[in-house]
Amino acid sequence: MERGGLVDLQPTPARILADVVQGLSATPKRLPSKYFYDARGSALFERITRQPEYYLTATELALLQARMADIAAAIGAGAHVVEYGSGSGRKTELLLGGLDAPVAYTPVEISRSALEHSVARLGALFPEIEMLPVCADFTGPFALPVPARAPARTLLFFPGSTLGNFDGPQSVALLRGMRDAAGADGRALIGLDLDKDPRRLEAAYNDAAGVTAEFTLNLLARLNREIGSDFDLGGFAHRAVYARERMRIETDLVSLRAQTVRVGGRTFAFAPGEAMAVEISQKYTRDSAAALAAQAGLALRAWWTDPQGDFALALLAPA
Ligand code: AVI
Repeated sequence: MERGGLVDLQPTPARILADVVQGLSATPKRLPSKYFYDARGSALFERITRQPEYYLTATELALLQARMADIAAAIGAGAHVVEYGSGSGRKTELLLGGLDAPVAYTPVEISRSALEHSVARLGALFPEIEMLPVCADFTGPFALPVPARAPARTLLFFPGSTLGNFDGPQSVALLRGMRDAAGADGRALIGLDLDKDPRRLEAAYNDAAGVTAEFTLNLLARLNREIGSDFDLGGFAHRAVYARERMRIETDLVSLRAQTVRVGGRTFAFAPGEAMAVEISQKYTRDSAAALAAQAGLALRAWWTDPQGDFALALLAPA
């Protein structure tokens, strides 16, 4: 549906309810992390990115800045930049400002408030770049808008290691979708958080100020408000642990006591200590990233990391 120039495909309460009932019916129980990002969740995520323990954002920003000339040379002039998720647009600002005369920018973002905010800001900063926002779940089907000026190529931008919030098959499907959307001459620039000392990783997802815990629990507040569930926010605790063998942070909400939760006319029972999986944050090596890309028919064209080797920008092209 079109509203004020913004293509709006936000998930309906019925869709959210169906996803939640399906997740709570599974063993172990789980909730989809994509629903973290209502207006409050997006604001809390912004705060996470400024916590001292959460090195990902600052590192990726510095890396983008340091490698911008190489990225611009690899992409060439006149690109249509398509970003999956828009966040606050700080990275996008660097990319749009650093590329050679991009013709259009399409953020695809599930949070309408985040989308509107970033497009208003970037549109004012880059009046010569056509803004073509799409409010949609980028894991689902959506049509890419066609820029008024024909782009030389499409560049899919997927920063923040957001790919890591998807499991193996989902991330392959996402990468394949990007390859198809970008076309034969397209490119994808993906930000990936790298495997490292588990203590640093666990600190990043259990910040001392408790912002990540607030972010995780906000998911329950959102569901209570939007689909009428009755999660007791005081009855669950945030827990994030690095599973070394799977190279990923696994975030759970742990039930602090025996309790029941009503959702959509159904009742779900939680045992004391029962963990409900709410998010994974996959970490990568160059080899694991190349292997994942290969499964989606993509090849690594370039691999840039910060001097400490904490974070990487991978440039992918159809294999
Ligand atoms: C958006 N995404 C890449 C973040 C991450 O690091 O997995 C979300 C997040 N969850 C807890 N802290 C940050």
